[in-house]
Amino acid sequence: MLPFHQVVKDDFSEVNQLIIDQLHSDVGLVENIGHYIVDAGGKRLRPLLVLLCAQALGYGHKRHIELAAIIEFIHTATLLHDDVVDVSALRRGRPTANAQWGNAPSVLVGDFLYSRAFQMLVAIGSMDIMAIMSNTTNTISEGEVQQLVNAKDPSVDEANYFTVIHKKTGALFEAACETAAVLSEASATQRDALRQYGYHLGLAFQLVDDVLDYEGDAEALGKNVGDDLAEGKPTLPLIYAMANSDKASSEMIAEAIRQGSVEQLDAVVAAVKSCGAIDYTQACAQQQVEQAKAQLDSVPDSPYKKALSQLADFAIGRNH
Ligand code: IPE
Ligand code: IPE
Ligand code: MG
Ligand code: MG
Ligand code: MG
Repeated sequence: MLPFHQVVKDDFSEVNQLIIDQLHSDVGLVENIGHYIVDAGGKRLRPLLVLLCAQALGYGHKRHIELAAIIEFIHTATLLHDDVVDVSALRRGRPTANAQWGNAPSVLVGDFLYSRAFQMLVAIGSMDIMAIMSNTTNTISEGEVQQLVNAKDPSVDEANYFTVIHKKTGALFEAACETAAVLSEASATQRDALRQYGYHLGLAFQLVDDVLDYEGDAEALGKNVGDDLAEGKPTLPLIYAMANSDKASSEMIAEAIRQGSVEQLDAVVAAVKSCGAIDYTQACAQQQVEQAKAQLDSVPDSPYKKALSQLADFAIGRNH
């Protein structure tokens, strides 16, 4: 548990229990794969956002527990699908579900988790929250498809990259914060501020994720590094490096993207580091975190607000 989980630790125990309870299925394989990925933990940052935002706005009821579990289910569904499309072998320190059971069971159990999340949303019964979540899942899918279209294309620009990371990752952070605000009957100003906090935090989170794919440590991360290059993904470190290195390095990176090959991984990493692309991407993340934290001005001071600010700092300082 990260230090900023502490302020909502009792709520969190309830969320964790609800996640386990809601994995139930008559089909054994659903429960096996569901437990396999859920029991491996993960940082649980998105449910944490729900709990912290709700508490920061003085929410006095219990439905934030369900909302937090719903958001984690949707996140978990995207991970099951993501590891299939990225052909990834390691997740949360374990072989991925697709490595263990194959692609079909991973995709189908991902669908199960998505639809379970929507069953739980119906139980909450807020049309506003339902609207946000249906738009969000649609946006995530669109972001993943756009990324697929961009694969192996070294001409993808920074604007296109930012659109993808907003859609595939930022959108769920945004939704976690905004739905918590709706649940708490926040003012329009606070709802918008928290939505924007989530938006900027989500961008920072994915920027750092894309840095860690080049300079992270697989053991600490619990997932393999180099997966992005293996799929020919033009992420910001590479986009920047192609524009800011000598011609030979730039062409070498472009070719590695076209091939979707890690054969040149060491050379690509060296080129990316030496031209300052890692520093640049990290600085972009820092900028997003500052913008996220500035949004918290409209939220009253409390230990929950402080934790939201610490969480934003963690997003850029993390190694996992
Ligand atoms: C991984 O998210 C997917 C991305 C959006 C980069 P996390 O890094 O939050 O994954 P877990 O839940 O902690 O495993
Ligand atoms: C994650 O992007 C986006 C979603 C899960 C929708 P990545 O593909 O970079 O995430 P990791 O690195 O596999 O966790
Ligand atoms: Mg992936
Ligand atoms: Mg992916
Ligand atoms: Mg990644």
